[in-house]
Amino acid sequence: MSSSNHTESEQLLITEDSECELEQIELELLLEGIHRFYGYDFRNYAIPSLRRRIWHHVHAEGVSSISALQDKVLHDRSCFERLIYNLSIPVTEMFRDPKLFLTFRQTVVPLLRTYPYIRIWHAGCSTGEEVYSMAILLHEEGLYEKSRIYATDMNSRSLQQAKEGVFDIKRMKQYTKNYMEAGGTRSFSEYYTAKYNSVIFQPYLKKNMIFAEHNLATDRSFNEFNVIFCRNVMIYFNDQLRDHVHGLFHESLSHFGILVLGAKESIHFTNYSEAYETLDRVEKIYRKIK
Ligand SMILES: C[S@@+](CC[C@H](N)C(=O)[O-])C[C@H]1O[C@@H](n2cnc3c(N)ncnc32)[C@H](O)[C@@H]1O
Repeated sequence: MSSSNHTESEQLLITEDSECELEQIELELLLEGIHRFYGYDFRNYAIPSLRRRIWHHVHAEGVSSISALQDKVLHDRSCFERLIYNLSIPVTEMFRDPKLFLTFRQTVVPLLRTYPYIRIWHAGCSTGEEVYSMAILLHEEGLYEKSRIYATDMNSRSLQQAKEGVFDIKRMKQYTKNYMEAGGTRSFSEYYTAKYNSVIFQPYLKKNMIFAEHNLATDRSFNEFNVIFCRNVMIYFNDQLRDHVHGLFHESLSHFGILVLGAKESIHFTNYSEAYETLDRVEKIYRKIK
């Protein structure tokens, strides 16, 4: 028996509870500190994956607690930058979910043909693979010349890579397969030149791309778009931040503008579900109707 008349298992539960509470406080203080000092707002990211990533970073930085990480992050900008990179989960690929790109070609491209000018926003574009995929698709459909593709992310390191358009040659086999499944009409290797272990995409694909840092949690709408892609970004947000970002997209889309979400995402169960009609339920393609 413990001194406070609790059984051993009760005492264990109390200790676990207070450790959880302490961890929650440390996590909140870290996020508050980052927000106040650096202006990045992770306070409304979904806790389970955020917590996992932060603990991963605690170990990677060789410190022993979230509070110790807070000290390091606030006093050492390079530690903060490494943390941002880890929290941003820059995982992507070309023609990711090929069936979506195929459906986009078949369902959305005919609508885009009727527009004099096309503005597309890739929000959370990571290292740019999705953006080059879109440029290739529009090029093949004869629409690239009248398009502007705005590619944004909060992670400046990923954006820099996206701007360079240089990718690992080892991934080209998978990307070629994705491209064909996405309805590609040419030989994929036409679009890049190989050099050592990398490939660089043809400069003409970059001509109408505009890259900029933009944080969905803190920055505003900056243009009006016919299409917005935001895939595999909001899965890391809580409901409040997700609704906020949907507000931003709703405000940024023109009437009948198209919203494309990731395979595990949906407009349903958000505050904006009534504002869109579904063009493809499986591929998560929606059209703004009000
Ligand atoms: C998993 S990647 C998705 C990349 C691409 N859209 C795709 O589906 O392949 C998530 C991206 O969202 C970005 N991101 C996360 N939070 C963000 C925010 N608040 N504002 C802008 N970008 C954010 C990350 O930096 C990362 O590059």
